[in-house]
Amino acid sequence: MRTSITALQRRKGAADAAPITMVTAYDYTSARLVDSSNVDAILVGDSLGMVMMGHESTLPVTLDEMIHHARAVRRGSERALLVVDVPFLSSTAEEPLVAAATRILAETGAQSVKVEGGAHRTATVRRLVESGIPVMGHLGFTPQSVNTLGTRVQAREESTARQLIADALALQAAGAWAVVLELVPSELAAEVTRRLDILTIGIGAGPECDGQVQVWHDMLGLYEEFVPKHTRRFRTLGQEVRGALNEYVAEVAAGTFPAEGNGSRMDPEVLARASQ
Ligand code: KIV
Ligand code: NA
Repeated sequence: MRTSITALQRRKGAADAAPITMVTAYDYTSARLVDSSNVDAILVGDSLGMVMMGHESTLPVTLDEMIHHARAVRRGSERALLVVDVPFLSSTAEEPLVAAATRILAETGAQSVKVEGGAHRTATVRRLVESGIPVMGHLGFTPQSVNTLGTRVQAREESTARQLIADALALQAAGAWAVVLELVPSELAAEVTRRLDILTIGIGAGPECDGQVQVWHDMLGLYEEFVPKHTRRFRTLGQEVRGALNEYVAEVAAGTFPAEGNGSRMDPEVLARASQ
């Protein structure tokens, strides 16, 4: 049975409940690993545009690509809550966004979509929720708006902090069940977490959110270009993988791989007859 949205929501404010943890996954094998861990939820993030496809931003990711990856993640998981991003290309107007969210739920089996943006989204969010599509919001640094946001850390000034609080309350009023807070000062994230009845899931937003989300490739040290400030590398798997690859090359060169058990044998007399 998949973890439900309500099961996670019940943990907000519960005295001894553990904070919520979420991590991205984009394929079957990583989804299997998350699902067999203690992490609560999987996000098929449009960050796949960078870490899976090598784009410079999330903007070029198509709905079909999101659905392709989400279906693989779905097949690799049965326990973790599954959330899928609505990509930028489907997010610039209400009708395509609603159509995209509908396809995502219908074709991937996700339990919720995630949509970037605040107060200007309330009508769309309400419409989605009323038609049975749970919505996770995303405020602060919203990568789909990389070309209009000046700095990465958001809402450090009075007016922008006030706007972020208003956006969070508007998303809650529209029926969102949670909101990601990305690169928001810890004090503000804590205040939003206190003010909201719905869950706050932070990334670079301090420890007082109701939960945390991390990008798979960042937290495992698979993305080696740089370590984002909001990341802790819990492992350096990139080094591990390169080490394994070089060992493979060395063992092939030394004749120690493949070994006897990696192949099969036949009767040499049969081969002699076959090659006559
Ligand atoms: O696409 C993504 O990975 C995200 C998380 C960073 C929240 O939106
Ligand atoms: Na995203």
